[in-house]
Amino acid sequence: MTEDVRTDAPRTSDGATPHFWPVEHLDALEFDPLLHRLLREEPVALVRMRFGEGSAWLVTRYQDIKEVTSDPRFSRALTVDRPVTSMTPHVVAPAGGIGRTDPPDHTRLRRLLAQTFNRKRVAALKVEAEAIAEELVGAMLAQGSPADLTECVTGPMPERVIGKLLGVPEDDLGRLQAWRAVILSSDHSLEESNAVKAEIAGYFRELAAHRVDHPGDDLFSELVAARATDELSAPELISLAVMIVLNALDQVRNQCSTMVYTLLTHPDELARLRADPELLPMAIEELLRFIPQRNGVGLPRIATEDVCVGDVVIRAGEAVYVSYLAANRDPEVFTEPDRFDLSRDESPNLAFGHGAHYCLGAALTRMQCEVILATLLRRMPGLRLAVAPEQVRWRRGSINRGPETLPLTW
Ligand code: HEM
Repeated sequence: MTEDVRTDAPRTSDGATPHFWPVEHLDALEFDPLLHRLLREEPVALVRMRFGEGSAWLVTRYQDIKEVTSDPRFSRALTVDRPVTSMTPHVVAPAGGIGRTDPPDHTRLRRLLAQTFNRKRVAALKVEAEAIAEELVGAMLAQGSPADLTECVTGPMPERVIGKLLGVPEDDLGRLQAWRAVILSSDHSLEESNAVKAEIAGYFRELAAHRVDHPGDDLFSELVAARATDELSAPELISLAVMIVLNALDQVRNQCSTMVYTLLTHPDELARLRADPELLPMAIEELLRFIPQRNGVGLPRIATEDVCVGDVVIRAGEAVYVSYLAANRDPEVFTEPDRFDLSRDESPNLAFGHGAHYCLGAALTRMQCEVILATLLRRMPGLRLAVAPEQVRWRRGSINRGPETLPLTW
């Protein structure tokens, strides 16, 4: 009889074969099968993706992720010029961009942005957002059914909100949308995406030059003023504006459209929400937890020294990814994690990340989703999909997931 030989020595990357993670196209609310499996079977696993070099650790458990993302021994700055294995041929976040800095630079940039993105400022914007939602939903009703929610509401709303917040002239928003589509896709070549990044950077350089003499009451003007007093470098100014505008245009559209799809395909939960609109803030949190917002994972971190995570020693210099999507389905934290349940009152979800790099747009996103959902529920008591759920077309080859269009009737 052979004995099961077990050792309690921590695992390392020595001799380990990475799992190949193809990051295949997923429709609707389908959860990535590899993430689902690793979360249960190998919560700290070596993976390799289609692009970049070598392998990286992928951490999937809620608690491990909270530890990694609040541990200063994992650096973002060290990812600059490191071709870490990745799902895209190009790194979406620019070098020197906020996502790829460590303290003290990261702290300085966050401080500059904190004013604009804080809850108070976002709450003040809510009244305007409500007026915009009212107007857009009103126009959709007037146009008649069926109508595409992304074209009528979830596309234009964040465009107008971020335009106001950032001070981008309304006429320029269409161009920014077109650049966004190329940069946030994994289907374009490095050359194409670099050309578009140069265009969008040129756009914001020109706008900055204009704002020096013509400041407005907006975030970009505040950043231009900070540049004038050297609190911010010129490349930092541009990359912040690009990062904010790209996220703002893409994420709210996708997230809010998918929220509507999720509710319409879970009629019991929708009926509970209709019966008790006070549930809405809780519903938003459960939707954020349940919806797989993206394909693959975000930016990696590099260990600056050997660090134990779960049963693994991540060695100094090794790259680590965390999957917030997986954390949101951790069975040790959420009962029946794959079930969508509006009355769930468990740990906070990690959809917006955790630690120093926690999403800056979280309050802005929550506010817009809440305003859009509240307006739709109130003004459209008979709202439903205009096609069978399987006929909704989902984006392909993009980093953030969401429907191409969402045809609705009422
Ligand atoms: C549903 C919508 C959104 C989701 C799910 C989301 C999620 C995230 C996540 C997971 C991170 C990274 C956390 C990390 O690196 O550990 C992040 C960072 C960030 N997000 Fe969002 N985000 C959303 C919307 C937005 C919006 C609307 C904006 C801008 C207006 C925005 C701006 C940013 C910025 C600037 C960072 C980098 C922060 C830093 O590195 O310090 N996000 N977001």
